[in-house]
Amino acid sequence: MRKKISIIGAGFVGSTTAHWLAAKELGDIVLLDIVEGVPQGKALDLYEAAPVEGYDVRVIGTNDYADTANSDVIVVTSGAPRKPGMSREDLIKVNADITRDCISKAAPLSPNAFIIMVNNPLDAMTYLAAEVSGFPKERVMGQAGVLDAARYRTFIAMEAGVSVEDVQAMLMGGHGDEMVPLPRFSTIGGIPVTHFIAPERLAQIIERTRKGGGEIVNLLKTGSAYYAPAASTALMVEAILKDKKRVVPVAAYLTGQYGLNDMYFGVPVVLGAGGVEKIIELPLNEEEMALLNASAKAVRSTLETLKSL
Ligand code: 2OP
Repeated sequence: MRKKISIIGAGFVGSTTAHWLAAKELGDIVLLDIVEGVPQGKALDLYEAAPVEGYDVRVIGTNDYADTANSDVIVVTSGAPRKPGMSREDLIKVNADITRDCISKAAPLSPNAFIIMVNNPLDAMTYLAAEVSGFPKERVMGQAGVLDAARYRTFIAMEAGVSVEDVQAMLMGGHGDEMVPLPRFSTIGGIPVTHFIAPERLAQIIERTRKGGGEIVNLLKTGSAYYAPAASTALMVEAILKDKKRVVPVAAYLTGQYGLNDMYFGVPVVLGAGGVEKIIELPLNEEEMALLNASAKAVRSTLETLKSL
């Protein structure tokens, strides 16, 4: 049977995710938004590109959650984006209300679905989605690490003057400016990144990666990034639906790994048909652990704010 993927939120991230998913022919797509006409218009437009591009999937737009029933994957992109000068945490009140609303409507109609959260503040919204859906934690996850690692990999490729295809890099922590790119776990063609890039330049690249989302917000002025976030989300959908067992950083529920409990946080996982099938525990050194703990502290504080709302 064909797979069904519902995307809640037909803004730039949602509709661009639909585009990548259709191009990869991963399944039929339902694009839902509260704004009347927009999801219908974008979905029809994307469907009309199918004969040209040759992807054989159905794309529909709707305002009605009933159309999302029996989805295999639900992607939540709805929520306000940042404006220049805002942190992701500034979005918590408005996006928590939106997340509660859409998860409480979508989850009961697709009880076996995987949920991929994309709205900010990411780690807290993923925690909330798990709580509201009541789904097993391995079926609820947040998209952030794939995006943040992609930015890091792009900057490394730019600096070293090599193909992005050959840059592999791991990055951990929350989706905030305290995220932790890990040079010790980054390679170019299997060769340690430090062979190509001097420590001080690498430090600048790490800083740029941490602020990567803000860099795009400052350039766009009226919204935040969507091509790379959407491509990263599509990678996660593909890993699950094709049982690829990808090893990628994902906001996953922690039960003691890295000394952290009862929180969603970016860690390397094996992503496949079971969702988050395994959390990989890297042998971090003292300095890396200190950075990770600082990031965890920031996520924990956002979670406290969420719980106090
Ligand atoms: C980003 O980092 C929107 O949080 C997203 O671009």
